[in-house]
Amino acid sequence: MRDNIIQLIYLVAAVGFGLSLRWMSSAATARRGILAGEIGFVLAIGATLALPGYTNEGYVYIAIALVIGTALGIPLGLRVPMTAMPQRIALSHAFGALAVGAVGIGKFFLYHEVYGKFELAVLGVEILLGGLVFTGSLMAAGKLHEVLPQRPLMFKGQNYANFAILGLCIAIVAYLMFRPQDTWLVLVLAALALAVGVLLIIPIGGADMPTVIALLNSYAGLSASALGLVLNNKLLIVAGALDGTAGLILAIIMCRAMNRSFRNVMFGAFGAVDETAAGGGDASGLGPVRTASPDEAAEIMKMGRSVVIVPGYGMAVAQAQHKVRELADALEAEGVDVKFAIHPVAGRMPGHMNVLLAEANVPYEKLLDMDEINSEFPQVDTVLVLGANDVVNPSARHEKSSPIYGMPILNVDQAQSIFVVKRSMRAGFAGVENELFYNPKTQMVFGDAKSVVGELANEVSGQRDAISL
Ligand code: TAP
Repeated sequence: MRDNIIQLIYLVAAVGFGLSLRWMSSAATARRGILAGEIGFVLAIGATLALPGYTNEGYVYIAIALVIGTALGIPLGLRVPMTAMPQRIALSHAFGALAVGAVGIGKFFLYHEVYGKFELAVLGVEILLGGLVFTGSLMAAGKLHEVLPQRPLMFKGQNYANFAILGLCIAIVAYLMFRPQDTWLVLVLAALALAVGVLLIIPIGGADMPTVIALLNSYAGLSASALGLVLNNKLLIVAGALDGTAGLILAIIMCRAMNRSFRNVMFGAFGAVDETAAGGGDASGLGPVRTASPDEAAEIMKMGRSVVIVPGYGMAVAQAQHKVRELADALEAEGVDVKFAIHPVAGRMPGHMNVLLAEANVPYEKLLDMDEINSEFPQVDTVLVLGANDVVNPSARHEKSSPIYGMPILNVDQAQSIFVVKRSMRAGFAGVENELFYNPKTQMVFGDAKSVVGELANEVSGQRDAISL
């Protein structure tokens, strides 16, 4: 009876996780999605604690772990800024994978005599994935937070070395299926798995880390599923499978939006920045760069019928989203139609721009995806590119040698006039020169996104005039 109730609660929790993923795929329902996930987790933890077999001492340890986890989790959730979210997620994966790997090692030492070959193989895979995801995620977080070098670290025969160590790990897993009494090999397996995590990530540039994190997420899901099989816990199998497929689908979406293959992300050493691009306007040979002041830009935006704002990573860095909302309101008060064009990989994580603009209460219906807005650009009077670079680079259409060749871009260059707000002529994430900045229709407004947009909003609403009068 008790077991049936627990299994029923597990089923409800699994439905909660599924709905959570479904609802989180749209900004309008994302909050509901978070709530469904939270309810699912509370039910899952509650039901698991009600399983028979715990001792009182066991409950005390679980309570201590819950208190420590909560004490770490709450400040992480509240204090970590949006721009640091990818590395914060990487840290969560690292902790999850460490837990999975540690449980795997513990189970192996305790029960290797009773487990059959299948369970032993699954435990081996769990320890391998747990160790690999733990160090891999820590490396990814370090690269993203720039405490580790962002550049890919390459050495000769690197891929062969990695595959050789991975092959050795698989051989150990196979050996342990037949001779589990050689428990010392489990520790060798764990140490090699930790090394594989480091070795797999060092040749990948900081630029590709968000995609790598999505992939590590899917490995972490697989290792949790493996743990579910060993523990005979159906919910863990389902949750791990959801996590695994969601991570994989996300990585595929990110690769498609960047027009990159998995192979290229994992072994392409992308992100070795082209220094010539980071230089200045003259070196490019693309022609002169025109500049404008915020008041000139404001005047032109105010005069037109339509403005499309294209946010990018720079808006996130500057935390300019609230000023952007003020600017949009001021333009609308002047009768200008304002829309936002959202590229699927603008910023550094999926939905980065949507989240920031939602935080500033920009209505969802004003945010248009690339496919929805691209055909409208020829009719748009003014485009304001705000800290975006790669996602509006026309060379992605024709420059075959470019790392972003083939990436679908926002057709900003087709608008009547273009203003680009950024601090310098420096390249974006892909490290390449941007043709748009040299387009005769483009004017650069140099400065930090937050302060420039603040000035634009003041100019449009006439506050500057009021102050100076
Ligand atoms: P980027 O191409 O990275 O360009 C951002 C620009 O923002 C920079 O050129 C920088 O120029 C400017 N900037 C930085 N701080 C600023 C500030 N405080 N004020 C004003 N401007 C500032 O960004 P994007 O166009 O959003 O493209 C995203 C890139 O990230 C793509 O290449 C994409 O493939 C990659 N990527 C995205 C994701 C996801 S899921 N979103 C995942 C992996 C990779 P200055 O230094 O001159 O100011």
